[in-house]
Amino acid sequence: MATVLIPGSFDPLHLGHIDVVDQAVELFGDVVVGVLVNFDKPSGMFTPDERVELAEASLPGRPTVTVRTFGGLAVQAAADVGADFMVKGLRTPQDFDIEQQMAHTNHSVTGIRTVFVPCRSDAGFISSRFIREIASYGGDVSHLVAPPVAAVLADRFAEPPNS
Ligand code: PNS
Repeated sequence: MATVLIPGSFDPLHLGHIDVVDQAVELFGDVVVGVLVNFDKPSGMFTPDERVELAEASLPGRPTVTVRTFGGLAVQAAADVGADFMVKGLRTPQDFDIEQQMAHTNHSVTGIRTVFVPCRSDAGFISSRFIREIASYGGDVSHLVAPPVAAVLADRFAEPPNS
């Protein structure tokens, strides 16, 4: 068994992420979901603490999974938690292009390896960006995220903007 870091923005965590976490648990054992944040330039829909809270609420009953924030580099986060590998989910060939470059770059910095897992076929289209966009106009995203995230989004955007 191994410890892996899954780094990402998770703004918010969605069903595709959950699939990748579950694959990583099955393959490696101990999984740290790392909410990577640039604390000097806060941005996004949810604060780092909210992202952690929502991710934890979306991942119940997984005793080997922890969620926490990290500032700075993913390679430093991986070193901090003693990760043997980083794990990234791939949805599309476009994902592979950028992720391959990041994997090579990260490996060149500290020697950490990145393992790619393919996203579940029915979750490959899901993205946090579109979830934020749809939710912010009052659209239903409950089929794309876990119930705790759906509830928070529905509550926050009960009224569409400029209505
Ligand atoms: O969920 P995302 O937005 O695709 O995740 C991107 C993330 C956070 C994994 C990436 O931007 C990252 O690793 N940021 C930390 C800074 C870093 O390590 N940069 C060097 C990348 S080679």
